[in-house]
Formats: sequence, C-alpha cells, structure tokens
Amino acid sequence: MQRISIIGTGYVGLSTAVCFASRGYHVIAATRNEENARAINAQQPPFYEPGLDAALTHGIRSKCLRAETSRAKAVSETDVSFITVATPEQPDGGIDLRYIISASEDLGRALQKKDTYHLVVVKSTVIPGTTREVVKLTIERTSQRAAGRDFGLCMNPEFLRQGSAIEDTLHPDRVIVGEYDARSGTLLEALLNEFYEGAVPVLKMGLESAEMVKYASNAFLATKISYANEMATVCETVPGVDVTHVMAAVGLDPRVNPQFLNAGAGFGGSCFPKDVKALRTFAEKHGTQAPLLRAVLTVNEAQARHVAQLVLSCLGEPEGKKVALLGLAFKPNTDDLREAPSLKIAAQLLEAGARVSAYDPVVKKVAFSEFEALEHADSVQACLAGAHCCVVVTEWDEFKALTPDDFITHMAKPIVVDARRIYDPQEFRQRLRYKAVGLGDER
Ligand code: UGA
Repeated sequence: MQRISIIGTGYVGLSTAVCFASRGYHVIAATRNEENARAINAQQPPFYEPGLDAALTHGIRSKCLRAETSRAKAVSETDVSFITVATPEQPDGGIDLRYIISASEDLGRALQKKDTYHLVVVKSTVIPGTTREVVKLTIERTSQRAAGRDFGLCMNPEFLRQGSAIEDTLHPDRVIVGEYDARSGTLLEALLNEFYEGAVPVLKMGLESAEMVKYASNAFLATKISYANEMATVCETVPGVDVTHVMAAVGLDPRVNPQFLNAGAGFGGSCFPKDVKALRTFAEKHGTQAPLLRAVLTVNEAQARHVAQLVLSCLGEPEGKKVALLGLAFKPNTDDLREAPSLKIAAQLLEAGARVSAYDPVVKKVAFSEFEALEHADSVQACLAGAHCCVVVTEWDEFKALTPDDFITHMAKPIVVDARRIYDPQEFRQRLRYKAVGLGDER
C-alpha cells in the first residue's frame, strides 16, 4: 500500500485523509497550523462536518492517521502527496496561488532530500495551466529534480460537497486523473482503483483538461441553480404557479435530471461563487467573453436581494420591526458562512431599519464587525418571539419540522417567507400569511 501525505487540512484535505485512513492506508495530514494539528491528533474535528468526528477518531486510534506540522517530514515518510490547500478568491475574481506556491516549494525542498520516486497530486481547485506552469516549475526549481523522471505529477479534482464530504469521498460518481506523463497517471489510477476497489470509473486525461473539468462541473451546477431561480421569479408573477411543480416536471426529463433545480436564496459557499468568477476571469483574460457565466452570477446576486425584498414587502414600514431569520449557514449540515445568502439578506434588512434576530442550529455567532447589529437567538422559539416576519434561509431539518402553530404561537404577526421551499403552501396559507420563492399568488 502506498503511504500518503496530504498537504492542507481543510474540508478536502481532511476528508481525503480520514477516508484513506479508514481503508487502512498510512496517512500523514500536514498542516502548518499547530492548533489544527493538535486538534486533529486529539481526535477533534477543526470544523463541523457530519461523520468526520467518527472517521477522525477511527483514523487516529488505529494509528493509520496522524497530523504533522512539518511538511518535509510528511513528504519524506510517504510515497504520494496530495496538495489540498485553499485557492482563495482575489479582488479581480482570479484565484490566489500563494498557498499552492508555498506547498510546492515545501514539497520541492523535501523531494531534494528524497532519493525515491514520489508522486505529487494536485487536488486543490486551480485554473487550467496551474499544475504544469506553477506546481511543476516550482517543485523542479526547489528540488533540482525533473518531473516525469524523479517525481510524478497528476491533477485529481475533487467533487465532494460540504455536509456530505465523507460520503462523497468514499462514493464518488467518477474520478478524474489528469496526468503529466503515463507513469504518473498509471500510478494514481492504480492507487484509486485499489482504494475504490474498481467500483468507480476513472477517466484519464491531460493535466489541463482535468483542471477544466472541475470548473466546468461547478459552472454547470451553478447555472442550473440560477436557471431555477430565474424561473422562480417568473413563476411568482403568475397566480397559481409553483416553481417546485414546474422544476419537478422539467427534471424528470433524463436529459435534464432533477438535481440542483431547487430555487432558493441563491448559491453560496466557498466553491460556486468563487469558481464561476475565476472561470469568467480566466476566460476574459484569454480574450473570450463569458456572457453565460456573467449572467449566472448576476442572477445569483439578485436572488438574495429578491428574498430580502419579499420580506420587506410583507413588513410594511420596517423601522424597528423584528424579522426572525432561520438559518445562517450557506447550506444545512455545515457551519460555513462563506458567501452565505443569509448574510446578504440580513444586511439588506438591517439597512432598511428592521431588527434582525437569527437562529441556526450550528452557527451560533456571526463574528464579522458589520453584523454587530444582528441579534442571535438560542432557539427557534426565541428567534420567533415577537417577530413581525420570519424568513427561512437554510433548510435545516429542525426548521422543516415546524408547523403553522409554531409561528402563530410565538410571532407578533405570523408571516412566513419560505426561501427554501420547505413548507406545504396549502397547509401554511390556510393558517397564516405565507410567501415563498417561486410561488405565485393564490388563484
Ligand atoms: C459544490 C459542488 O456541489 C461539489 O461537487 C464541489 O466539489 C464543491 O462545490 C467544491 O467545488 O468544492 P458545496 O459548495 O459544498 O459543493 O455545496 P452544494 O451542495 O453544491 O451547494 C452549494 C450552494 O448551492 C448552496 O448554497 C446550496 O444551498 C445551493 N443550492 C444547491 C441551491 O440553491 N439549489 C440547489 O438545487 C442546489
């Protein structure tokens, strides 16, 4: 069995590490953050992710997994290194490669001292050309070794979703192996076939195609969501129309498929907004306009504003009125607030003069200074108490279980804006004022 090091312990890195360890591989997770390394070794997940807790405990107790602050040590004691560091957004919409460069430099310095062949695999999301032009050249410069001869190089994009990261890592639909040369590709393909016991299709291609697959996939999924949101806004203008019925029917066409057609508050998270922007910026830098990607982002920005507008239209004069905001995380089963629609909606409501009280089962505080005025409730009931309107922004199970009575009992005025379509319009409309994304007025 190959020994594996993972450089970077965010969602992708740590999920990859615990999953390899769960199948008996010897894995070293390298992070320069001492606190992070200590937490991992103490079996404490550094972020909220269902199933990570148990997988981490299993990995550490079985001695298959350990965290290291020295990347050099991690590389020298293993045969394959996955680079899983972050590639954050830059102000111009491009990606910041500083962590990729520093990981490549550390890898190169470690490889200089290593006499055996080592396979380097880029898993971070990087724009086409980065693995060859940045990672390869940086490792060659710092190691004085040659790619293809002394070390192998592959690009292996990741498709896991936060909230189901472990499940997605263990059971992906497909695995992409971008290869610098045949030897590297064959080695990674063999490792992945061993790990997945041959049950997952492995597609081999060039490095740049593999890099592009990740952006093309996320751009398509984001496009589906913006399409559903645009259809939702049109549906709202037609009495009797419900976007959930329309999309259910559209999705049954196998050429479309039902997934990612849920109209809502817009897509957030660390991936879709950043990746669509990066692909658009990349296309523009290469002299190609990307009008579709531009439109996908415009529709997404508008969607959060549209939800805030639905709330304001129900409130009347917002000054001093309390809005209960249910759900802060950008999606359920995560504590991640990056690009969360909740914050965009809260900002607009606060600016309009409303009081906003938020409750989320996992996110207990928004620590950003611009949200000082946001109140935090410690239960649904406290959040709803005395509110003039409630807006559901994240579809947590806890909110799905609420009935009209819960809103009627606690709120000053029972008005619900359902931005995730979790309630039955018929049931709710009979009991209270119910507005929802993609729902036309009653006929
Ligand atoms: C996304 C992709 O789904 C993963 O395949 C990919 O690996 C990952 O990005 C990444 O690039 O690392 P993630 O951002 O974790 O995963 O979560 P998703 O479940 O895709 O949701 C993203 C956003 O879209 C959320 O805000 C969600 O509420 C929204 N969404 C999703 C909708 O509004 N409607 C839908 O029908 C589906």
